[in-house]
Amino acid sequence: MPRPSVIFVCSACGHESPRWEGRCAGCGEWNTVVEERGPRTASAPGSSPRRSAGAAVKPVLLEEVQAAEHARLSTGIGELDTVLGGGLVPGSLVLIGGAPGIGKSTLTTMALANLLAAGRRTLYVSAEESAAQVRLRAERLDGDGALRIPVVAETDLHTVLATLEQERPELCVIDSVQTLHCAELSSAAGSVAQVREVAGQVMRIAKALRIAVLLVGHVTKEGSLAGPRVLEHLVDCVLQFEGERERTYRTVRAIKNRFGSTNEAGVFEMRDDGLVEVLDASARFVDEATRAPGSAVLCAMEGSRPLLVEVQALVSPSELVPPRRVVAGLDRNRVALVLAVLGRHGGIGLGASDVFVNVVGGVRVDEPGADLAVALAVASAAKRVALGSGERPLACFGELGLTGELRSVAHGERRLTEAAKFGLEPVVEPGRHRTLRSALQSALGDSRPVARVA
Ligand code: TYD
Ligand code: MG
Repeated sequence: MPRPSVIFVCSACGHESPRWEGRCAGCGEWNTVVEERGPRTASAPGSSPRRSAGAAVKPVLLEEVQAAEHARLSTGIGELDTVLGGGLVPGSLVLIGGAPGIGKSTLTTMALANLLAAGRRTLYVSAEESAAQVRLRAERLDGDGALRIPVVAETDLHTVLATLEQERPELCVIDSVQTLHCAELSSAAGSVAQVREVAGQVMRIAKALRIAVLLVGHVTKEGSLAGPRVLEHLVDCVLQFEGERERTYRTVRAIKNRFGSTNEAGVFEMRDDGLVEVLDASARFVDEATRAPGSAVLCAMEGSRPLLVEVQALVSPSELVPPRRVVAGLDRNRVALVLAVLGRHGGIGLGASDVFVNVVGGVRVDEPGADLAVALAVASAAKRVALGSGERPLACFGELGLTGELRSVAHGERRLTEAAKFGLEPVVEPGRHRTLRSALQSALGDSRPVARVA
């Protein structure tokens, strides 16, 4: 078979060259040149520029367009269905990204097993592990439904496409998009060019045969270039699997969804027999919350659902210049901002202290409503005074402004209702306090700092 020619295109400026170059000759950027299948069809010299090669089509009015009814496929995993916007849409391409070991293969295997049990045709394409390894995982999962999943262990793209055409499953998992290989491109599997080509070809066949495809992709901590980020514009839905491998709690969040909202998130726990949905996450986190100095309960929003999580802080004298700021589960820059506001407007200077801030349980909170919880936890740690007065931990939420004001955040009512459900009242929030200073006074009471030797 003649080898189709390839061209090298700069992903920054579009400059084309016949060879790979470390530095683009067009724009001078380093490492932006990627391989693509070519050549682009250029109009022959001398041909009329007004004549295009394609046939014209007639535009239709939007009101005359038949809106396709999406009969969703339920994955049998409630949290996953919610995040997808009510289940999988036939013919859609869903990318599940996450760090290695987070549980992507486990989640997709469980979804396949459930769909199979519901009488659907399924297929598991394992390009990463041997069929025997996939079997070992399936054996760990609850029940024996997972063992009946048809599996092919294959890394060649064209073999996989041919198999899809022959088997015509309703749901297919490709694990992972970075290990499938298209022989026409000379670059290694997992490179930007390969990942794009693989996803593009799979998409064509998925749309034509109405196969719902779950593409598994690894993202490194740095969100590496060859990672699935380059596919985000191509697929219908991008799910992000988050959490830390060493912790049990994981969240699945939609960061793009053509068929639903991107506000939803599902919480899972990794057990010995697979991932289990955590429906009462707030209850667990509140139960585990300590009443010690440095702990505050944050009324956070996970998508459209309120979630109570514990934010912990530790402040200790530093021997380093600049002192250490170690943050887990929150945005580092946001925490730096809160510390600055705390110093300027709360009278709690931390210039000579190491500060550690952590959201318990491996949960990640990415919303400004977390500011007040960080401020109160750090203030409580610095003063060595437990927050609140009662038996229950202190709940709070709110955004901090740069001038020390407390700003309201979305879904205040829902957050308050969730806190009330667990008896965490009164909540320190923007509805009660207009400034950080007032919130600090209320949360720390007028108890004097306990002078204790660390
Ligand atoms: P895996 O789904 O293979 O992760 P990924 O495909 O994202 O790389 O599994 C991740 C980890 O979970 C692995 O270290 C083993 C563990 N695990 C369990 O704790 N319980 C289980 O039932 C299974 C199947 C895996
Ligand atoms: Mg895997």
